[in-house]
Amino acid sequence: MGNEVSANFELFNNAADNNQQFIADELKWLLVPGARVLEIGSGSGQHAVYFVNHLKEVNWQPADKEPYFGALERNLKGISLSGLEKPIYLDVAQFVITGSFDAVFCANVMHIMSADLIPSIMAGVANLLDDGGLLILYGPYKYKGDFTTESNAKFDEWLKSRDVRSGIRDIELVQAEARTRLLELIEDIPMPANNRLLVFRKLSENDAVSDSGF
Ligand SMILES: C[S@@+](CC[C@H](N)C(=O)[O-])C[C@H]1O[C@@H](n2cnc3c(N)ncnc32)[C@H](O)[C@@H]1O
Repeated sequence: MGNEVSANFELFNNAADNNQQFIADELKWLLVPGARVLEIGSGSGQHAVYFVNHLKEVNWQPADKEPYFGALERNLKGISLSGLEKPIYLDVAQFVITGSFDAVFCANVMHIMSADLIPSIMAGVANLLDDGGLLILYGPYKYKGDFTTESNAKFDEWLKSRDVRSGIRDIELVQAEARTRLLELIEDIPMPANNRLLVFRKLSENDAVSDSGF
Protein backbone atom coordinates (compact mmCIF):
# COMPACT_ATOMS: atom_id res chain seq x y z
CA MET A 1 0.00 0.00 0.00
CA GLY A 2 1.26 3.53 -0.64
CA ASN A 3 1.68 3.81 -4.39
CA GLU A 4 -1.84 2.55 -5.03
CA VAL A 5 -3.35 5.04 -2.59
CA SER A 6 -1.44 8.10 -3.79
CA ALA A 7 -1.65 7.44 -7.56
CA ASN A 8 -4.72 9.69 -7.81
CA PHE A 9 -3.47 12.43 -5.50
CA GLU A 10 -3.90 16.08 -6.52
CA LEU A 11 -0.47 17.56 -7.40
CA PHE A 12 0.94 14.03 -7.75
CA ASN A 13 4.71 14.26 -8.17
CA ASN A 14 6.60 11.62 -10.16
CA ALA A 15 9.90 12.49 -8.50
CA ALA A 16 8.45 11.73 -5.05
CA ASP A 17 7.20 8.41 -6.38
CA ASN A 18 10.67 7.60 -7.72
CA ASN A 19 12.65 8.58 -4.63
CA GLN A 20 10.38 7.36 -1.80
CA GLN A 21 11.80 3.85 -1.60
CA PHE A 22 15.42 5.08 -1.51
CA ILE A 23 14.60 7.60 1.20
CA ALA A 24 12.65 5.00 3.21
CA ASP A 25 15.69 2.69 3.12
CA GLU A 26 17.69 5.39 4.92
CA LEU A 27 14.89 6.40 7.30
CA LYS A 28 14.65 2.76 8.40
CA TRP A 29 18.02 2.93 10.12
CA LEU A 30 17.89 6.61 11.07
CA LEU A 31 14.54 6.53 12.92
CA VAL A 32 13.82 4.55 16.05
CA PRO A 33 10.60 2.49 16.00
CA GLY A 34 7.75 4.69 17.18
CA ALA A 35 9.53 7.91 16.17
CA ARG A 36 7.42 11.08 16.08
CA VAL A 37 8.27 12.85 12.82
CA LEU A 38 7.23 16.29 11.55
CA GLU A 39 7.39 16.63 7.76
CA ILE A 40 7.82 20.21 6.50
CA GLY A 41 6.59 20.88 2.94
CA SER A 42 4.70 17.60 2.50
CA GLY A 43 3.44 18.61 -0.96
CA SER A 44 0.81 16.13 -2.16
CA GLY A 45 1.31 13.85 0.88
CA GLN A 46 2.77 10.99 -1.17
CA HIS A 47 5.84 10.64 1.07
CA ALA A 48 3.71 10.74 4.23
CA VAL A 49 1.53 7.84 3.06
CA TYR A 50 4.48 5.81 1.78
CA PHE A 51 6.59 6.25 4.91
CA VAL A 52 3.74 5.44 7.29
CA ASN A 53 3.25 2.23 5.33
CA HIS A 54 6.92 1.29 5.24
CA LEU A 55 8.43 2.45 8.54
CA LYS A 56 7.85 0.58 11.77
CA GLU A 57 5.32 2.27 14.08
CA VAL A 58 6.22 5.74 12.88
CA ASN A 59 4.01 8.67 13.85
CA TRP A 60 4.04 11.06 10.89
CA GLN A 61 2.85 14.67 11.07
CA PRO A 62 2.49 16.15 7.55
CA ALA A 63 2.59 19.96 7.19
CA ASP A 64 2.61 22.51 4.41
CA LYS A 65 1.51 25.97 3.36
CA GLU A 66 -0.48 27.24 0.40
CA PRO A 67 -0.60 26.53 -2.49
CA TYR A 68 -0.04 22.88 -1.45
CA PHE A 69 -1.92 22.79 1.84
CA GLY A 70 -5.43 22.50 0.36
CA ALA A 71 -4.45 19.58 -1.87
CA LEU A 72 -2.60 17.91 1.00
CA GLU A 73 -5.70 18.08 3.19
CA ARG A 74 -7.97 16.80 0.43
CA ASN A 75 -5.57 13.97 -0.49
CA LEU A 76 -5.20 12.68 3.04
CA LYS A 77 -8.82 13.19 4.07
CA GLY A 78 -10.49 9.82 4.39
CA ILE A 79 -7.20 7.91 4.51
CA SER A 80 -7.13 6.14 7.80
CA LEU A 81 -3.69 4.81 8.57
CA SER A 82 -2.32 4.18 12.02
CA GLY A 83 0.46 6.72 12.62
CA LEU A 84 -0.66 9.22 9.97
CA GLU A 85 -1.69 12.52 11.56
CA LYS A 86 -4.04 15.14 10.12
CA PRO A 87 -2.01 17.74 8.13
CA ILE A 88 -1.18 21.02 9.84
CA TYR A 89 -0.54 24.43 8.28
CA LEU A 90 3.11 25.45 8.51
CA ASP A 91 4.89 28.26 6.71
CA VAL A 92 8.48 28.31 7.96
CA ALA A 93 8.46 32.10 7.60
CA GLN A 94 6.20 32.12 10.69
CA PHE A 95 7.27 29.02 12.55
CA VAL A 96 4.47 29.11 15.12
CA ILE A 97 3.82 25.44 15.84
CA THR A 98 4.82 23.91 19.15
CA GLY A 99 5.38 20.32 20.20
CA SER A 100 8.11 17.78 20.54
CA PHE A 101 9.46 15.51 17.80
CA ASP A 102 12.19 12.89 17.42
CA ALA A 103 12.85 13.98 13.85
CA VAL A 104 11.94 16.59 11.25
CA PHE A 105 11.94 15.50 7.60
CA CYS A 106 11.96 17.97 4.74
CA ALA A 107 12.28 16.98 1.08
CA ASN A 108 12.91 19.37 -1.78
CA VAL A 109 11.99 22.48 0.18
CA MET A 110 15.33 24.22 0.81
CA HIS A 111 15.80 25.09 -2.87
CA ILE A 112 12.18 26.23 -3.27
CA MET A 113 11.84 28.55 -0.27
CA SER A 114 13.81 31.76 -0.08
CA ALA A 115 17.35 31.46 1.35
CA ASP A 116 16.32 34.25 3.79
CA LEU A 117 14.18 31.64 5.55
CA ILE A 118 17.05 29.27 6.38
CA PRO A 119 17.64 30.88 9.84
CA SER A 120 13.91 30.69 10.55
CA ILE A 121 13.59 27.01 9.62
CA MET A 122 16.66 26.11 11.71
CA ALA A 123 15.38 28.03 14.75
CA GLY A 124 11.91 26.49 14.46
CA VAL A 125 13.23 22.95 14.00
CA ALA A 126 15.67 23.27 16.90
CA ASN A 127 12.80 24.32 19.19
CA LEU A 128 10.77 21.24 18.26
CA LEU A 129 13.52 18.62 18.50
CA ASP A 130 14.52 16.88 21.69
CA ASP A 131 18.27 16.59 22.34
CA GLY A 132 19.58 13.88 20.01
CA GLY A 133 16.68 14.49 17.60
CA LEU A 134 17.31 14.55 13.87
CA LEU A 135 16.74 17.05 11.07
CA ILE A 136 16.74 15.15 7.75
CA LEU A 137 16.93 17.20 4.55
CA TYR A 138 16.53 15.63 1.11
CA GLY A 139 17.44 17.46 -2.09
CA PRO A 140 20.31 18.81 -4.23
CA TYR A 141 23.15 20.91 -2.75
CA LYS A 142 26.22 22.85 -3.92
CA TYR A 143 29.65 22.25 -2.40
CA LYS A 144 32.12 25.16 -2.09
CA GLY A 145 29.91 27.06 -4.52
CA ASP A 146 29.99 24.34 -7.21
CA PHE A 147 27.11 22.28 -8.53
CA THR A 148 27.75 18.55 -8.28
CA THR A 149 26.55 18.01 -11.87
CA GLU A 150 25.68 19.97 -15.02
CA SER A 151 22.06 18.88 -14.66
CA ASN A 152 21.89 20.43 -11.19
CA ALA A 153 23.30 23.69 -12.64
CA LYS A 154 20.53 23.65 -15.26
CA PHE A 155 17.93 22.86 -12.60
CA ASP A 156 19.14 25.87 -10.60
CA GLU A 157 18.75 28.13 -13.66
CA TRP A 158 15.25 26.81 -14.19
CA LEU A 159 14.33 27.35 -10.53
CA LYS A 160 15.54 30.96 -10.65
CA SER A 161 13.68 31.64 -13.90
CA ARG A 162 10.44 30.74 -12.06
CA ASP A 163 11.29 32.51 -8.82
CA VAL A 164 14.50 34.46 -8.24
CA ARG A 165 14.39 33.58 -4.53
CA SER A 166 14.67 29.85 -5.32
CA GLY A 167 17.93 28.03 -5.99
CA ILE A 168 20.14 25.15 -4.95
CA ARG A 169 21.75 26.00 -1.60
CA ASP A 170 25.38 25.80 -0.52
CA ILE A 171 25.77 23.00 1.97
CA GLU A 172 28.26 25.17 3.90
CA LEU A 173 25.62 27.88 4.42
CA VAL A 174 22.97 25.39 5.55
CA GLN A 175 25.49 23.70 7.84
CA ALA A 176 26.59 27.01 9.39
CA GLU A 177 22.99 28.13 10.06
CA ALA A 178 22.18 24.73 11.54
CA ARG A 179 25.24 24.90 13.81
CA THR A 180 24.06 28.19 15.33
CA ARG A 181 21.01 26.22 16.59
CA LEU A 182 23.07 23.28 17.89
CA LEU A 183 22.18 21.13 14.87
CA GLU A 184 25.31 19.26 13.83
CA LEU A 185 25.70 17.61 10.43
CA ILE A 186 26.36 13.91 11.09
CA GLU A 187 25.64 12.32 7.69
CA ASP A 188 25.74 13.46 4.07
CA ILE A 189 24.40 10.54 2.06
CA PRO A 190 24.50 10.46 -1.76
CA MET A 191 21.07 9.67 -3.21
CA PRO A 192 19.80 8.93 -6.75
CA ALA A 193 19.31 11.75 -9.28
CA ASN A 194 22.14 13.89 -7.82
CA ASN A 195 20.41 14.48 -4.51
CA ARG A 196 21.72 14.22 -0.95
CA LEU A 197 20.23 13.20 2.35
CA LEU A 198 21.66 15.52 5.01
CA VAL A 199 21.22 14.41 8.59
CA PHE A 200 21.71 16.85 11.49
CA ARG A 201 21.62 15.85 15.14
CA LYS A 202 20.44 18.24 17.83
CA LEU A 203 23.19 18.60 20.42
CA SER A 204 22.46 19.21 24.07
CA GLU A 205 23.89 22.41 25.58
CA ASN A 206 26.48 20.19 27.35
CA ASP A 207 27.53 18.47 24.09
CA ALA A 208 27.93 21.88 22.47
CA VAL A 209 30.15 23.18 25.29
CA SER A 210 32.41 20.11 25.26
CA ASP A 211 32.58 20.25 21.43
CA SER A 212 33.86 23.80 21.59
CA GLY A 213 36.74 22.71 23.80
CA PHE A 214 35.64 24.47 27.02
C1 LIG B 1 8.98 20.82 -4.68
S1 LIG B 1 7.74 20.76 -3.44
C2 LIG B 1 8.27 19.32 -2.54
C3 LIG B 1 7.11 18.54 -2.01
C4 LIG B 1 7.48 17.19 -1.36
N1 LIG B 1 8.22 17.38 -0.14
C5 LIG B 1 8.25 16.32 -2.33
O1 LIG B 1 9.43 16.05 -2.10
O2 LIG B 1 7.64 15.93 -3.33
C6 LIG B 1 8.26 22.08 -2.37
C7 LIG B 1 7.45 22.18 -1.12
O3 LIG B 1 8.02 23.20 -0.29
C8 LIG B 1 6.96 23.87 0.34
N2 LIG B 1 7.41 25.18 0.82
C9 LIG B 1 7.94 26.18 0.10
N3 LIG B 1 8.13 27.27 0.87
C10 LIG B 1 7.73 26.93 2.12
C11 LIG B 1 7.65 27.62 3.37
N4 LIG B 1 8.01 28.91 3.47
N5 LIG B 1 7.19 26.95 4.45
C12 LIG B 1 6.81 25.66 4.34
N6 LIG B 1 6.83 24.96 3.19
C13 LIG B 1 7.28 25.58 2.09
C14 LIG B 1 5.92 23.97 -0.78
O4 LIG B 1 4.67 24.35 -0.29
C15 LIG B 1 6.00 22.57 -1.34
O5 LIG B 1 5.19 21.66 -0.66
